[in-house]
Amino acid sequence: MPPEQSDAPRPADFRIVDLFAGPGGLDIAAHALGVRSTGVEWDMGAIATRTRAGLSTVPKDVLECGPDQFPEANVLAGGPPCQTFTVAGHGAGRKALDTVLQFVQRLADREKWASIETDLVELDPRTRLVLQPLRWALKAIDELEPYEAIVLEQVPAVLPVWNAYARVLRNEGYETDHGVLHTEEFGVPQTRRRAVLVARRGARRVRLPEATHHRYRRGEQSSHDDLTLGESLVEPWVTMEQALPHRTGPFTVISNYGTGGVAENRGRRHSHQPSATVTGKVSRNRVVAPDGTDLPRFTFAEAGLLQTFPAAYPWSGTDVSQQIGNAVPPRLGMHIISAALGLGRPTDAALKRLASWTPPT
Ligand SMILES: C[S@@+](CC[C@H](N)C(=O)[O-])C[C@H]1O[C@@H](n2cnc3c(N)ncnc32)[C@H](O)[C@@H]1O
Repeated sequence: MPPEQSDAPRPADFRIVDLFAGPGGLDIAAHALGVRSTGVEWDMGAIATRTRAGLSTVPKDVLECGPDQFPEANVLAGGPPCQTFTVAGHGAGRKALDTVLQFVQRLADREKWASIETDLVELDPRTRLVLQPLRWALKAIDELEPYEAIVLEQVPAVLPVWNAYARVLRNEGYETDHGVLHTEEFGVPQTRRRAVLVARRGARRVRLPEATHHRYRRGEQSSHDDLTLGESLVEPWVTMEQALPHRTGPFTVISNYGTGGVAENRGRRHSHQPSATVTGKVSRNRVVAPDGTDLPRFTFAEAGLLQTFPAAYPWSGTDVSQQIGNAVPPRLGMHIISAALGLGRPTDAALKRLASWTPPT
């Protein structure tokens, strides 16, 4: 009897075009899963890192490209920068959000991009970029082949935009899911919240990935042992000392920022906890021993490890801290991409492939 043909999707069936690709958090995640990807990125520092990591890159402005230049891509991914929304709910942020939602509708109504573009001047140039993935997705539907899957991520304040995207994509034949994910729930030794949208065309069902690890609660000193969450078993959250085993002895990281704008109120995380969110200012955080003496600050490699980049990731170019802080933690990226493509939960072998990755010689 001939071997049974499975129509389950395989990593090799997909090719991603990753907009605003940064140093490659999503691309290295795709690579570990066996999915090919090409990033569009204009920052010379991020391009330097990507080049040394051997990641395929088109070094261009996303605004000057379109899906027709990537005919082999059947998956659209992106993390557009949109700092303005972090103040959503107040004045300028709220206003920008409402305006962006109107533009989403105009795109969905197939108003000509040229006339939308003229009106976009009312938005801050970086805020406008959040419309690009939808422009690409609709252009592919109208003029080329629709993307089979779409993966988007950004800060939690962007969730209302993903909500509007989901409505439009569902009308275009996609099944979607979106929400805020907590990175430590996916084995990342860091607390960070990201608004994620996954969509697949023609699928019966697509769901955000399920947590594999316990959620960190503020001030918690130790994770519970294996817990059951619904039907599945979740592992304890991963600590900084597990991620950085070469740092011998306990330490405390004191944030460069004061919580709530109060300089004295600097956040602290201990080595037996997950790291606080790794930002572009990660190299300014103090690392201190239990007796208060200063220890060496985090190197780029260590900050990268807290983001789940491989230890050997070849950070290069300018403003590396910002590159690291901008990135999607690759381990979270693996879960998100797998969920969007219907590949099932990443295997232990694939997760190990990520951790032990080395750059091409
Ligand atoms: C939030 S980061 C994305 C990180 C990426 N998803 C990752 O996982 O590493 C946004 C990136 O968009 C890039 N960018 C901003 N505007 C751009 C544009 N118009 N064209 C191309 N890249 C742009 C920035 O340089 C930055 O690296």
